[in-house]
Amino acid sequence: MKKYHIAVIPGDGIGPDIVSQAVKVLKEAGALFELEFEFHELLAGGAAIDQVGACLPAETVKTARECDSILLGAVGGPAWDRLPGDARPEQAILGLRKEFGLFANLRPALLFSQLAAACPLRADLVAGGLDLLVVRELTGGIYFGERGHKDTDMGPAAYDVEQYSEGEVRRIAEVAFQMALKRRRQVVSVDKANVLESSRLWRRVVTETAAAYPEVSLEHMYVDNAAMQLVRQPAQFDVIVTGNLFGDILSDEASMVTGSIGMLPSASLGSGSFGLYEPIHGSAPDIAGTDRANPMATILSAAMMLRYSFDQAEAAQTIEKAVAQVLDQGYRTADLYTVGTTLVGTEKAGQLIAEALQA
Ligand code: IPM
Ligand code: MG
Repeated sequence: MKKYHIAVIPGDGIGPDIVSQAVKVLKEAGALFELEFEFHELLAGGAAIDQVGACLPAETVKTARECDSILLGAVGGPAWDRLPGDARPEQAILGLRKEFGLFANLRPALLFSQLAAACPLRADLVAGGLDLLVVRELTGGIYFGERGHKDTDMGPAAYDVEQYSEGEVRRIAEVAFQMALKRRRQVVSVDKANVLESSRLWRRVVTETAAAYPEVSLEHMYVDNAAMQLVRQPAQFDVIVTGNLFGDILSDEASMVTGSIGMLPSASLGSGSFGLYEPIHGSAPDIAGTDRANPMATILSAAMMLRYSFDQAEAAQTIEKAVAQVLDQGYRTADLYTVGTTLVGTEKAGQLIAEALQA
């Protein structure tokens, strides 16, 4: 029996609510596919600040390194909003991404046909369905560039530097083209090359990388236009490859187009099989502990873990099908609820999905 060690980081807000459901589904999938999972619960984010005084304790990094992957809920909340930038809970996620070299963030945005009514766009715009993948660069750009404060003639100022090296762009472009080969073979690279020097380098390197992928079509798009196209005609997109900041923004936009941010999973990968899996949504402190959060994005993230870190595509698909089945049966968490569907809480949604694995 194959055995995998999974670092589990519930984090803050709804993090513990949703992660426990994903663990439940993983256990069930393990039993079905004869995979053994050992879960190692670790502290990070605001919970870690409160308990041990640091958002990313050394112990967490050390244990996670001994594991095969990380499952993370969410971090952050108003309780820690007044901390200085480098002490905020969000630094835990950024630290994990950097520490493990997880430069490639895959954020699939899929409109489940059952959720068409939850999509805020006009029905004819999504009639043929929606299935796009945002490939976001995750360890470079303005998130990790030089930052600081200085005095100017307009008063004290603060700055953050956007910088991309050729190597960083090339490796994320490679990931995007590889992904496109397994999909509809279209890549749109998003930048702001009409203004930013870093974007001009980005565009040149993506174009060079494309030469090795003649089967894949490449289009460049300015980020403002891409934001507009995502709501004007979202079905035109297959793979979107972009930098850290633009990817953060566009993936939230893409998620809403699919009905709810509560549905979008993500995988953060490096050069090996190790990965970090988390929903793209935040910690939603206002509904924490109330059994109202949608656990599906986290459960779908666990499916991505099975696919990308453990090479268990069949088990991954079984989880994805189980989610679709529960939606088919009309069950909805509050974020997706419409008249005529059955409202369920976090716990019940997780239980229904775990049960649906058997079908
Ligand atoms: C995300 C989040 C993070 C990011 C925050 C929590 C640091 O918004 O994963 O999209 O900006 O990358
Ligand atoms: Mg974000």
